[in-house]
Amino acid sequence: MTPATATAAPPRVLIVDDETGILDSLRILLRTEGFEPHVAQGGRQGLERLPELRPDIVLTDVRMPDVSGVQVLSGARQVDPETPVILMTAQATLQSAVQAVNEGAFYYIQKPFRNDELIAILRRAAEHRRLRVENQTLKQEIRRRDANEARRPIGRSKSWLEVLRLAETVAPTDSTVLITGESGTGKEVIARYIHELSARGDQSFLSINCGALPESLLESELFGHVKGSFTGAVKDKTGLFAAANQGTFFLDEIGETTASTQVKLLRVLQQREVIPVGATEAVSVDTRVLAATNRDLEEEIKRGSFRADLFYRLNVIAVHLPPLRQRADDIPVLAQSFLEASAAARGDTLKELGEDTLDALMAYSWPGNVRELENALERAVILSAGNVITADALPERVTARRAEPLVAERTPETPTLEAIERAYIQWVLRNEGGNKSRAADMLGIDPSTLYRKLARYGES
Ligand SMILES: Nc1ncnc2c1ncn2[C@@H]1O[C@H](COP(=O)(O)OP(=O)(O)OP(=O)(O)O)[C@@H](O)[C@H]1O
Ligand SMILES: [Mg+2]
Repeated sequence: MTPATATAAPPRVLIVDDETGILDSLRILLRTEGFEPHVAQGGRQGLERLPELRPDIVLTDVRMPDVSGVQVLSGARQVDPETPVILMTAQATLQSAVQAVNEGAFYYIQKPFRNDELIAILRRAAEHRRLRVENQTLKQEIRRRDANEARRPIGRSKSWLEVLRLAETVAPTDSTVLITGESGTGKEVIARYIHELSARGDQSFLSINCGALPESLLESELFGHVKGSFTGAVKDKTGLFAAANQGTFFLDEIGETTASTQVKLLRVLQQREVIPVGATEAVSVDTRVLAATNRDLEEEIKRGSFRADLFYRLNVIAVHLPPLRQRADDIPVLAQSFLEASAAARGDTLKELGEDTLDALMAYSWPGNVRELENALERAVILSAGNVITADALPERVTARRAEPLVAERTPETPTLEAIERAYIQWVLRNEGGNKSRAADMLGIDPSTLYRKLARYGES
């Protein structure tokens, strides 16, 4: 990190006023004093320019015919809560300027003011801004370092390391992320990791399983409700979106939501505000949304059970977690970490895996992915009397299907069709004690075809 870069560029100041004369003179003043002025004529234009300009400081008149300076203030805080906003106020609007400062404006300056007075305030605002940015960058840096040591989700396969790298890249952005993958692949683990590495990492991480509640309950959990909006709504309730304000909200099993809930979610993502059930006023929220599903949402869109517009809102960044059978390289390190965790939790000595046991773990296809592995080992630790975990302590399905052809070659990544074919032929051959005509029979092919294939593999 180089704090110098934060100071090197002249601070960008967005000046908002409805009078062109004032805009012109302020622009000239600011430029000569080493700022980078941008102007917007009126509050509406000011609001429009905020998102792409992302100014370091906003200097705005309070009373303007279209949109007031107080509205510009709240717009600026939505774009970036750390932007100092300075209000220029006349006697008539002094009251609302004072109020605005109480609500987070950086300063107000009463008109008419002297140039040096304004410049002094702008300099202070710039310094304030610089410190905030520097502080945030530092915090993120520290967080990233911590994460790289302790919290990095376990795995060493190429595809898993790619997942982690992508998660680390998107974490500091405020982007919505859609995490996909089969059940038990670690979607929630990745969601938490993204949250922890983000600037929101020290705020709350809330989650909900959208498949676990009926529509009306889910909606009141998500958006909140007002007292009396339905039977049982005996008092106002804050929804999870609002409760996760400044933090991250994880929508698990998003594919399970109904059409009605999907419309409402879309609204939240577009407007960044929620309307509690039974309420008339929207509440604005600053919540980062992460979502996960084990369904193929594009398929669901085709079938009409998921809204395409919601999908595109969620899928700004897509992180796909490969199933464990496609990253068998992760199995030994995951197994080791589960054994360590189990020993620590039980206050027991660390048990180790027998060679056969590891072979069996590597050969199994793990339809339940990491969760199934974790459970299998937890059980094996309990069943093993000694310090070595033998294969017979594993669930039967794990050992029974040891020669599962898909992973017989232990390809860490997606195997090619040829690799599967080859592995499968070898497995059948072994099972048939090397007898090629019986193997061909088992495989349902002509012996000559088998010979040809073996010759191609260099194994005739
Ligand atoms: N890389 C990993 N390192 C350590 N533990 C992991 C890892 N991936 C998954 N786990 C563990 O496996 C279990 C399943 O992970 P998680 O709940 O994140 O999966 P999921 O994809 O959300 O599953 P589901 O679709 O069923 O909700 C958890 O106990 C989690 O701690
Ligand atoms: Mg989950």
